[in-house]
Amino acid sequence: MKLLGLCGSLRAASTNHALLQAAAREVPAGVQLQVFEGLGAIPLFSPDADEAVPAPAPVAALRRAVAEAEGLVIACPEYAHGIPGAFKNALDWIVGSNEMTDKPTTFLAASVPPRGLLVREALIEVLGAMSARLVLDCCGAVPLMGKRPEEAARILAEAVHRQTLRASLEAFVGAIRVR
Ligand SMILES: Cc1cc2nc3c(=O)[nH]c(=O)nc-3n(C[C@H](O)[C@H](O)[C@H](O)COP(=O)(O)O)c2cc1C
Repeated sequence: MKLLGLCGSLRAASTNHALLQAAAREVPAGVQLQVFEGLGAIPLFSPDADEAVPAPAPVAALRRAVAEAEGLVIACPEYAHGIPGAFKNALDWIVGSNEMTDKPTTFLAASVPPRGLLVREALIEVLGAMSARLVLDCCGAVPLMGKRPEEAARILAEAVHRQTLRASLEAFVGAIRVR
């Protein structure tokens, strides 16, 4: 089974990206989680640009990656109580092309509630409008906010957090297989 990790941060030292990479090491047997690395190359969306045939290459890569994945794992920071512009922009490119329709989608959080709850609510609203199949009872959280890469790596190597990621992914894969 192929899962796709989508990181909402473009920051080089992103804790959300580190979280997804750590999650990729904790997948159940027979499952691969690949993190999409092309978010920063996606052009600004407009309905006019959306009419271009073929679509811009970075957009085509995103659409293909989402279409080929059996499930999406999103890790996204909160910016000003909402979704970072670059990530919302990427989502806008797949509204009309429909790759999200019925796509099993879950979240991992690189911060601990109440931090990040507003972006989670915003993503639920947006992804719901895109007809994704949200799986919300397996969203693990790891306290990485504000951590530098070395400290984030140390935290992610701790057994308790590895277990959180493993349990989240097992539950997500289980939910995908039920359907
Ligand atoms: C422009 C900006 C706005 C932010 N706004 C919020 C916010 O509204 N709520 C919050 O909890 N954190 C906020 N943060 C903190 C980020 O969510 C936090 O630094 C996050 O861990 C960064 O993720 P990353 O390490 O993957 O880049 C903001 C950060 C930036 C840069």
